Amino acid sequence: MTAHIPKAELHCHIEGAVSTALAQAQAEKYDVDISRLIDGDRFLWHDFTSFLAAYDQTAGLFRSEEDYALLAQTYLESIAEEGAIYSEIFVSPDHARNAGLSPDAYLNGLGEGMRRARETCGIEGRIIITCVRHFGSDQAVDVARYAASRPHALVTGFGMGGEERMGSHADFTTAFDIARDAGLGITTHAGELAGAESVRDALEHARPARIGHGVRAIEDPALVAQLADTGIVLEACPGSNVSLSIFDNFASHPFRALRDAGVKITLNSDDPPFFDTTLGKEYAVAQSAFGMSDAELVHTTRTALEAAFVDDETRQALIAKL
Ligand code: ADE
Ligand code: ZN
Repeated sequence: MTAHIPKAELHCHIEGAVSTALAQAQAEKYDVDISRLIDGDRFLWHDFTSFLAAYDQTAGLFRSEEDYALLAQTYLESIAEEGAIYSEIFVSPDHARNAGLSPDAYLNGLGEGMRRARETCGIEGRIIITCVRHFGSDQAVDVARYAASRPHALVTGFGMGGEERMGSHADFTTAFDIARDAGLGITTHAGELAGAESVRDALEHARPARIGHGVRAIEDPALVAQLADTGIVLEACPGSNVSLSIFDNFASHPFRALRDAGVKITLNSDDPPFFDTTLGKEYAVAQSAFGMSDAELVHTTRTALEAAFVDDETRQALIAKL
């Protein structure tokens, strides 16, 4: 049982946090056929490529400020119920635009949902604007410029998701430089679908404070030592990894090994309903499969709060809750 453990999350894609029930309601609202997206209470996908397609189709069900307010509010309230005190959501202006919504309206809706959840549950949150790797470097620069304009008070970070097996972080240096120069925290997906070389590539060209996943660094002991020495924080998402068959099962997941090697590592849900997980389930797996004690779980939350892209006053107030 981890219900009593305060939790913090650094890595959740908001369009990947849509419950099947909410997706059904949105499909009815906009009269969209989702028979090939959802079966009962399960999103339909069979590999990473079809997962990304399902993610895109789900995003297309959210078309107004209020749709996104409802999504952010329901998601944050659901994890607050599991003990979460802080959450960073990954958002994608490209997906909003594809659904006919301006990036400003998208952020205003999400911000309003976050405000409501804070009011009802006390959960704190920030927004990380992400570009999409397989949409290409020009679009990434546009997204970075938008993020750098500080379009919303809750935007504190910039990152990249998408198809890791495509291109190199070298193609995205300009985007990351723009965001970093604007004072945004930097994180990027690497070491999920691709191995240790991809993590090295991300470190060299994106110069992030955190890596989304990063767990395949385990394939290279020198890289693990480098991560431990430099204090780069990994946003591990074990449920997502096992669901996508990155690792066969939790017993073979390297969370514990990376932690024992001195790497700063956190627990996250990635795209929870797609991977049949929640933040609470991730903490429960860490307890049952990785042998984490209550004190170690609280320490994991502390690691997340120390690495959060948030002002120091808020950080200290959150840490004081542990
Ligand atoms: N976008 C949404 N979920 C993702 C994941 N797990 N990896 C890369 N990009 C994503
Ligand atoms: Zn992710």
